[in-house]
Amino acid sequence: MPRDWGWWTEQKLDILSDYLAAFTKASTRAGTTVYLDLFAGQSENISRERTGHVIRGSARRALDTSPPFSVLRFFELTPNASDLDHALRSEYPNRDFRVVPGDCNQTIDQVLHELRPVNWAPTFAFLDQQSTEVKWDTLERLANHKRANKPKVELWLLCASGLLPRGLRLRRSEIDDNVANQMSLMFGTEQWREALAATREGDLTGAEFRDELTNLMRWRLERDLGYKATRVFKVTNTRGSEIFDMIFATDHWVGDKIMRAVYSKAASRQGALRERARQHRKQSREEKAGHVGLFDVDEVMPNQAEGFTVSVADLPARPPYRRH
Ligand SMILES: C[S@@+](CC[C@H](N)C(=O)[O-])C[C@H]1O[C@@H](n2cnc3c(N)ncnc32)[C@H](O)[C@@H]1O
Repeated sequence: MPRDWGWWTEQKLDILSDYLAAFTKASTRAGTTVYLDLFAGQSENISRERTGHVIRGSARRALDTSPPFSVLRFFELTPNASDLDHALRSEYPNRDFRVVPGDCNQTIDQVLHELRPVNWAPTFAFLDQQSTEVKWDTLERLANHKRANKPKVELWLLCASGLLPRGLRLRRSEIDDNVANQMSLMFGTEQWREALAATREGDLTGAEFRDELTNLMRWRLERDLGYKATRVFKVTNTRGSEIFDMIFATDHWVGDKIMRAVYSKAASRQGALRERARQHRKQSREEKAGHVGLFDVDEVMPNQAEGFTVSVADLPARPPYRRH
């Protein structure tokens, strides 16, 4: 069954498509390019807002990129992995791709080992997790997978800062230890707990806590893994609540320049698409309640500039929050 997703998913994937096309174009002289998708998902997804509208997943988008990637590796849990493999095999019979079944944190080592002969080639890794599935060790392995004097693997990571406070049960007397432990494994440090304690005591607001989580990830990518630049793209839903931040980490000024342009382009598409998603929700609520709308939203709001409420942070990461 294809998964049913909100409009922001499509926007995130549109940014991915835009960036990948620029990445392979900028890497033409290298002759070989590598794409790694650690949470590859299903081959396609159905839009929640637009009936019957199919959203192409990240794996297909990477395979559709022009100029094409030379080598692609998709990671996905079983049994989804075999479905994805089956769907892609018939559509892309002659491409060098592989769907690697299992937990990407465990399978990454073997795959990077196999790719060592091309660890000089420009490589992009998409880490589209749902919440805290990725482990810091995996990010570290990706950052170290390179030849001397070559740029590191570029990372584009979903950091679910907007969702994690609810997962933690931040406002209850006991936090969810399971989620907290997962967060420590993802950040590779317990340092985020300082901001947690400050938030529970009222010294930080919820928004400041969310911001601290994203900042800590950026700080660790820059300071501990040595990435030259990180860029954040913040996504909020139709009610204006923060959902997630996309963090880009690069070792190359060209990558930084391209992602900056791609983020700005996406930011300029914002507003109308979000409004359209809101209208669709309203329309389907009304229709469920028996009031069939006079117009279809697609007819009333055709081809408006698309986009979503985003904030593109240009500031460098700052030292993580510490209690005095
Ligand atoms: C948000 S979805 C990814 C969507 C995908 N990028 C797309 O465009 O369709 C996250 C996916 O990661 C998979 N997943 C979760 N934990 C995983 C793990 N440890 N290793 C590999 N895949 C995992 C889930 O089964 C799910 O399909």
